[in-house]
Amino acid sequence: MWGKHRMVWTTKGLEKSHRFHHHGKEGEKKLDNWNPAGYLKFEYERTLPSRDLAAHVRVEQVHNIIDIGCGPGNSTKVLRDTWPHARILGLDSSEQMIAKARATYPEGEWIVGDAQRWSSRDRFDVVFSNAALQWMSDRAQVLTNLFRHLNVGGALAVQVPLIGDSPLHRALAAVSQYDEWEKLLRGAGLNRTDYDDSFYYGHLSTLTTRIEMWITTYLHIMESHQAIIDWYSSTGMRPYLERISGDERRSTFVNQVLELCSPEYPIQPNGKVIFPFKRLFFVAWNDT
Ligand SMILES: C[S@@+](CC[C@H](N)C(=O)[O-])C[C@H]1O[C@@H](n2cnc3c(N)ncnc32)[C@H](O)[C@@H]1O
Repeated sequence: MWGKHRMVWTTKGLEKSHRFHHHGKEGEKKLDNWNPAGYLKFEYERTLPSRDLAAHVRVEQVHNIIDIGCGPGNSTKVLRDTWPHARILGLDSSEQMIAKARATYPEGEWIVGDAQRWSSRDRFDVVFSNAALQWMSDRAQVLTNLFRHLNVGGALAVQVPLIGDSPLHRALAAVSQYDEWEKLLRGAGLNRTDYDDSFYYGHLSTLTTRIEMWITTYLHIMESHQAIIDWYSSTGMRPYLERISGDERRSTFVNQVLELCSPEYPIQPNGKVIFPFKRLFFVAWNDT
């Protein structure tokens, strides 16, 4: 449970101060049927980067925070622990994720909405986003928009996975090219994309002079190869699995991915598997 200092969110208040512009790209596929339980199976590992990111946010007075792509509220909980007296909003486009966040932390302020179309009259001391921007197509515009919502001295703090060059993702991409899948899965990978440090730095440097960036590779200890697949099925592999109908066909696909990537994750003497996971972090301060 969170501390006492909570503002109560009302629909009226939200309508007054937050806007969502509905001008999505034609053909853009909505991918908001997340499975919070599957995602939270690895809650400890998935929440580590939020702790590391929050620890780098050096802002004197933090009164107002928004967690963009807050998911089931695990990253928002880290913000609550770090800044117990701040007002904290959690925003996510998935109704299932927000329902889970609201059920776990009923005293929080939760908003369902697309961060790509979000705007608010409020200004924030911290705009935080852990593991969500990789799902947003117009990344440069999102960065500018989020940055625009900062108070002077405030910080935009972001973590995005860099999984594109991992054995797991390479196996997923390769199997999707097999004849039996190619047509069905064409374009599935476009829902989620990695941009590199140069992209983020290049864009952020048009907005501010104060930027910190770093990359951390976490070495998650997984119970088995199957656990690595379970990890990815609820995130990056989801857009692929959603296109395949029938449990049997989905298992065929998953087993092909498993077979291809397993040799690159050797089994350790105790039977466990090391799963390296690379993540890019940045904090950009509004120094204007
Ligand atoms: C991998 S989860 C991250 C959850 C949480 N922040 C954490 O640290 O574990 C990514 C979340 O981003 C959300 N998301 C993806 N695209 C979004 C968008 N355009 N606007 C708002 N949320 C979005 C998804 O619904 C999902 O809950």
